[in-house]
Amino acid sequence: MPHLFLNLLTFFIFIFFFVLPATAQSYNQYGTNCPSYMWGDVNISYPFWKISSSENNTQFCGYQGLGINCTDNGQRNISLIAFGNDSYYVQRINNDYRSIVLADYDFSSVAPGPNDCPRARHNISLGTLPLQFHVTMVNLSFHFNCDGSPSFATAIPCLGRNGGNAYVNVVNVTTEDDWDVHSCAEKVVTTVYPEPIFMSNLSLNYGRLLQG
Ligand SMILES: *[C@@H]1O[C@H](CO)[C@@H](O)[C@H](O)[C@H]1NC(C)=O
Ligand SMILES: *[C@@H]1O[C@H](CO)[C@@H](O)[C@H](O)[C@H]1NC(C)=O
Ligand SMILES: *[C@@H]1O[C@H](CO)[C@@H](O)[C@H](O)[C@H]1NC(C)=O
Ligand SMILES: *[C@@H]1O[C@H](CO)[C@@H](O)[C@H](O)[C@H]1NC(C)=O
Ligand SMILES: *[C@@H]1O[C@H](CO)[C@@H](O)[C@H](O)[C@H]1NC(C)=O
Ligand SMILES: *[C@@H]1O[C@H](CO)[C@@H](O)[C@H](O)[C@H]1NC(C)=O
Ligand SMILES: *[C@@H]1O[C@H](CO)[C@@H](O)[C@H](O)[C@H]1NC(C)=O
Ligand SMILES: *[C@@H]1O[C@H](CO)[C@@H](O)[C@H](O)[C@H]1NC(C)=O
Ligand SMILES: *[C@@H]1O[C@H](CO)[C@@H](O)[C@H](O)[C@H]1NC(C)=O
Repeated sequence: MPHLFLNLLTFFIFIFFFVLPATAQSYNQYGTNCPSYMWGDVNISYPFWKISSSENNTQFCGYQGLGINCTDNGQRNISLIAFGNDSYYVQRINNDYRSIVLADYDFSSVAPGPNDCPRARHNISLGTLPLQFHVTMVNLSFHFNCDGSPSFATAIPCLGRNGGNAYVNVVNVTTEDDWDVHSCAEKVVTTVYPEPIFMSNLSLNYGRLLQG
């Protein structure tokens, strides 16, 4: 069982391409003149920019919404980016591939002890940010405290310890509506990178991991 959740945890990683709108082309010159900044392993450079703690951040060399908050938790340098109301931990920015890899910063354990049973708490809301999910990503849908579930959903027992229940499934737009006949207290959809072991046989791996 813990195996599944450790794996799920590492799966809560989002890979985005950053897409510069056509209007940005004329700013290329401007962009290349922006300073870049290393914080930990993260190379913050245009269109990303470092949020300053001492200034008002009304002027920045980069895109609105792509400011990165550099903090130090006492042990290491942490880079955070906020979309909507949620913060994500920036794992890396690869300027050559124009990709940014983020991890959900907001997992908290339902069961006490190590966080081997993460609960997805929020949908990812990109709003108008010039980011796109990497094409290889899949969406996972989580349902909590339902009066039943479609057969393709897989129960997550560790999340149901407090008397409710929880299910996960890979979103298929054709069948996701099957949830409509069931009443659930909450639904969260999150986008994840399907590691190859999952890609090769999703049903096998979810099933095996669930059985522990
Ligand atoms: C930040 O903005 C506030 C309110 O607009 C202003 O009073 C203050 O002087 C600004 N500080 C700096 C460092 O620009
Ligand atoms: C940056 O993140 C730290 C830690 O979460 C927070 O205390 C701080 O207010 C943030 N700063 C800005 C400018 O968002
Ligand atoms: C954080 O990053 C700064 C600038 O790159 C560096 O000087 C400092 O040593 C780093 N701190 C830690 C704890 O890694
Ligand atoms: C952010 O939180 C506020 C207050 O809870 C809410 O009204 C708003 O809809 C949230 N925004 C997003 C993008 O989730
Ligand atoms: C950070 O990225 C910028 C833009 O690609 C590049 O010019 C710079 O050399 C990089 N810095 C480091 C330390 O890799
Ligand atoms: C996953 O959800 C996002 C946001 O709703 C959407 O843009 C994307 O196309 C979905 N991906 C798949 C593979 O369904
Ligand atoms: C989605 O569900 C439909 C109906 O069960 C199925 O035919 C289709 O192959 C599924 N698509 C994916 C990508 O699994
Ligand atoms: C997440 O998005 C779905 C629609 O895709 C919505 O039904 C659900 O209420 C949202 N969940 C949260 C926690 O905002
Ligand atoms: C995938 O998993 C199913 C269910 O355990 C199994 O029957 C099937 O042989 C597996 N397929 C591959 C290619 O391993």
